[in-house]
Amino acid sequence: MTQRYAVFGNPISHSKSPKIHTMFAKETTQSLTYEAILAPIDEFQQSFNAFTAANGRGANVTVPFKEQAFALCDELSEQAKLAGAVNTLSVMADGKIRGDNTDGLGLVADLERNLGSLTGLNVLLVGAGGAARGSVLPLIQAGIAKLTIVNRTQAKAETLAALFSSYGEVEALPISHTGKNYDVIINSTSSSLSGEVPNISRDTITPQTVCYDMMYGKQPTAFNVWAKALGAKHTIDGLGMLVGQAAESFNIWRRIKPSVEPVLIQLRAEL
Ligand code: ATR
Repeated sequence: MTQRYAVFGNPISHSKSPKIHTMFAKETTQSLTYEAILAPIDEFQQSFNAFTAANGRGANVTVPFKEQAFALCDELSEQAKLAGAVNTLSVMADGKIRGDNTDGLGLVADLERNLGSLTGLNVLLVGAGGAARGSVLPLIQAGIAKLTIVNRTQAKAETLAALFSSYGEVEALPISHTGKNYDVIINSTSSSLSGEVPNISRDTITPQTVCYDMMYGKQPTAFNVWAKALGAKHTIDGLGMLVGQAAESFNIWRRIKPSVEPVLIQLRAEL
């Protein structure tokens, strides 16, 4: 019987994951199916149980179920524990459910694909929600020199920095006092969805700065348009992070790493 994989979310109809994983499976000649499953808001666990009972071997989880996915796991990776959220569920040989979080690994893989090694870089992370939290450990483990976190609500940046301070050099600053010595600025906020830009100082952007917006769209995001106009060296959107996290999930399930580039080119053409 063909092994089933799926992405669970609500809403889910616009998810690109089935297309991405189907391309990965074709490239790596893996026999599997990957579908999108709309779980009712209050029935995620039931939906996932029904899926595993019908030969479901693994699943991605997106909004709003990442915390519920975290709660149902029998075991968790360190990254999932620290992220407090799970985007990758795997059914193990003994039937137990393992949770991983590949979002931050996808971010790091995409940054490295664009910039090469991150070793020694000075990074500013804007935002302190779930997307930011999932990125901190992978960035530290990629060898960055220092991570500075700022957020509209400063207390949340401070809480996040404190959570990770034993793992590396992580600090929180007021969003209006970022300074300007950053190699990379990552916008993890959802501000670009509403065409807004976080309130960081214009001076933060220098000709040496690479700006990365986790959002993406057919047009450049509001943050990247703003950064480019201020002379940023390079701007990158989050489409590569999406494909990167998918590749990490695929590798967890199938123990084979698919190529990101051809999938990214195709998705970009279809935006
Ligand atoms: P996600 O899981 O996508 O990170 P989240 O946990 O709801 O979503 O977090 C949203 C993040 O975007 C928060 O850092 C939020 O700032 P606050 O903590 O102050 O709410 C940030 N955010 C959302 N809209 C923003 C805007 N227009 N300007 C600046 N920050 C914004």
